Amino acid sequence: MPAPKVFVTSEYPSVGLNRLLQECDTEVWPGPLPPSREVLLEKVKGCAGLLTMLSDKMDAELFDAAGDQLKVVSQYAVGVNNIDVEQAHKRGIAVGNTPGALTDATADLAFALLITAARRIIEVHESIQAGEWKAWEPLGHIGWDLVGKTIGIVGMGRIGYAMAKRCQGGWGMNVIYTSRSDKPEADQNLQARRVSFDQLLSDSDFISVHTDLNAETDKLFDSNAFDKMKSNAIFINTARGGIHHQPDLVQALKTGQIGAAGLDVTDPEPPARSDEILHLPNCVVAPHIGSATTKTRNEMAEIATDNLLNALHGKPLRCEVK
Ligand code: DGY
Repeated sequence: MPAPKVFVTSEYPSVGLNRLLQECDTEVWPGPLPPSREVLLEKVKGCAGLLTMLSDKMDAELFDAAGDQLKVVSQYAVGVNNIDVEQAHKRGIAVGNTPGALTDATADLAFALLITAARRIIEVHESIQAGEWKAWEPLGHIGWDLVGKTIGIVGMGRIGYAMAKRCQGGWGMNVIYTSRSDKPEADQNLQARRVSFDQLLSDSDFISVHTDLNAETDKLFDSNAFDKMKSNAIFINTARGGIHHQPDLVQALKTGQIGAAGLDVTDPEPPARSDEILHLPNCVVAPHIGSATTKTRNEMAEIATDNLLNALHGKPLRCEVK
């Protein structure tokens, strides 16, 4: 029997790729930019498995272009908002993702963005580069204290919990959160409290987003939400850019509706070089690097490869999106 055809839509860690190359007729899309839609529609033809990135739109048109032999879409990420899971399931295509592996790396980055925004690190670094460091400034470069403040976590899943743990354990912050259900582990271990979205907005000194992007969370943070936040609040988003309304966020940062922001995700991604979000002194932006550590990316690749091969062997996926 010929080896099943697999398309990997990007360069991918060798710990995951080598097994695919051994077991499957594998093609890897080369280079740093994702394939165009036209190329993707062509490349998926006849594939039994697709190893996908968060930038690949996987919808009914694509599944139909692939053909009936497509068994699995294995996403190299935990978020699957680019995949029409319902349409995949309708066609009997399994969908896999990589939860767990990136929890600590992403929470670390969320905290890094918080402290970077709070202590204005990028702004002062740029000011030094511009030759503006003339003396120690008793009244200059004043930032935010973190100890004892209130952190509002939107989405108390694995990553939200890991961020809350850092904030509560290291900085003694009060933790409040929104979630679809109570989270007894957070309540007991972190003295966290589940509150309404409006209370989270009004009571938090810092808000960190850790929910997935879906119909309920799409543009959840718009001018209305920013209006209810403290004027010196710091907004952190390491989840998906679509969860904030970016023009409203720019306005909120420019007009002092909120104090600062730290983003690992933007809308769109990447933003145009001229996008205002990249040119505000009170906004720190990273290029979606929450999971970008060696251990994390390798673990994600192990899981994504296991998911794909398991599905092709008719076995349950290690992590299946239901
Ligand atoms: C994910 O996994 O969804 C992250 O956004 C990228 O690693």
